[in-house]
Amino acid sequence: MMAMNYKFDREAVSDAGAFGKVVVLLGGTSSEREVSLKSGDAIYKSLKAQGVDAYKVDPANDLFDLFDVLSEATFDRAFIALHGSGGEDGTMQGALETLNIPYTGSGVLGSALAMDKVRSKQLWKGLELPTPSYAVYARGVSMDEVIGAVNLPVIVKPSGQGSSIGMSIAHDLQSLRTALEEAAKYDAEVLIEQWIQGAEYTVAVLGEQALPLIKLETAREFYDYEAKYLANDTRYICPCGLEVREEEAFQLLALDAFRSLGCQGWGRVDFMVDGQGEPWLLEVNTVPGMTDHSLVPMAAKAAGLSFDNLVWRILETTVAMGDQ
Ligand SMILES: Nc1ncnc2c1ncn2[C@@H]1O[C@H](COP(=O)(O)OP(=O)(O)O)[C@@H](O)[C@H]1O
Ligand SMILES: [Mg+2]
Repeated sequence: MMAMNYKFDREAVSDAGAFGKVVVLLGGTSSEREVSLKSGDAIYKSLKAQGVDAYKVDPANDLFDLFDVLSEATFDRAFIALHGSGGEDGTMQGALETLNIPYTGSGVLGSALAMDKVRSKQLWKGLELPTPSYAVYARGVSMDEVIGAVNLPVIVKPSGQGSSIGMSIAHDLQSLRTALEEAAKYDAEVLIEQWIQGAEYTVAVLGEQALPLIKLETAREFYDYEAKYLANDTRYICPCGLEVREEEAFQLLALDAFRSLGCQGWGRVDFMVDGQGEPWLLEVNTVPGMTDHSLVPMAAKAAGLSFDNLVWRILETTVAMGDQ
């Protein structure tokens, strides 16, 4: 196995002052608030350490009106560190567009599409990108009809959540019913997806490049909330152990999947590889975790970028936008 070479252009911004006043948006009201607070803190500390004039604003703080703060403080750009609804789903992006504040990551459309697992899959199917077969359970749909149409085992997910919240595997009809009821508590639309037995990988995207793949291994049935944030036996393998040609092919697939949803700037694409070596796209995260234990920083490190380099480069993606 040969290591791949990653080349990064020279940094477009060399002086921290050129970024102006930067607001890090963190926290928020989604079920991923706690993770976002950690991501946002890590980003804020890194920006300050690099001499950037950075500030933190939590949209969930009801002591002020977010619009007033953002417009009166005359921020030059925003680093969005909000995960989940209200921050990663296009709504905050729309607010920032309206206020004319350049921001990191995907725009309104890409953010909204990537947050919606059902519509991401519909789009990929239309483009013949590989994603596991699925059914949708929503209000007005008969549960019996949906249950009759799927091949077990399946994984059941609320369409618009992250962090494996509200998700479960169903091996039989009884557990499928329970799984649908559980997922429906979180979202009006529930995705029932074919279970893929195999290995799990994730690819970070930075600008126009895909970073080295990370292989995820858990002793649990899948990479659930516990495996993500609590268990200490979850394994992250990078370099991932695939042949270079195969890794490159999966990186290209990830870039296709990312761009097809209209995503840009940075993000992370999750996928499975089955026993035959075939990839199956699961989802795109447009504001992935950014704690120093998170996956994007891990991939960046493997490509030769420190956490500080990564934060700087993500912030740089707002510059072209603001100066156009
Ligand atoms: N079709 C599938 N087959 C096997 N495992 C899956 C499948 N879909 C999801 N998983 C497992 O569930 C985890 C969370 O699913 P994902 O679609 O990435 O949602 P989330 O937004 O919660 O990260 C994945 O990391 C993977 O371990
Ligand atoms: Mg995921």
